[in-house]
Amino acid sequence: MVLTACDKTNVKAVWTKVSGHLEDYGAETLERMFATYPSTKTYFAHFDLHHGSSQVRTQGKKVLSALGDAVAHVDDLPSALSRLSDLHAKNLRVDPVNFKLLSH
Ligand code: HEM
Repeated sequence: MVLTACDKTNVKAVWTKVSGHLEDYGAETLERMFATYPSTKTYFAHFDLHHGSSQVRTQGKKVLSALGDAVAHVDDLPSALSRLSDLHAKNLRVDPVNFKLLSH
């Protein structure tokens, strides 16, 4: 998908509202994914997945921090995200379908 200049401005504006709440919003995002699509939990079998888990909060913050990096490099996403892309594809072996589930 190609973002217009207006889209990019909107994304950056929204992110200024998100960026002060990375841990809270990130943990809620992951909790919603786990609740709605239980198969996604298989990737986190080594985590405590109970509500309020510090592992989920830490992971949520990592995910949203990475999204923040993407927002900051919206004109150069491939190089900004290539390390994480390789990590998820080659090391963690996350099926790409899961990224859509998280986005929902
Ligand atoms: C917007 C999408 C996503 C972003 C930005 C993201 C970002 C990250 C980051 C920053 C890390 C830590 C990497 C490091 O330690 O260097 C990570 C780890 C991980 N991610 Fe993702 N992730 C995303 C989606 C997913 C999805 C959909 C799954 C599976 C359902 C997943 C599974 C994992 C797992 C299993 C780890 C390792 C956790 C651990 O053992 O500490 N990720 N992710």
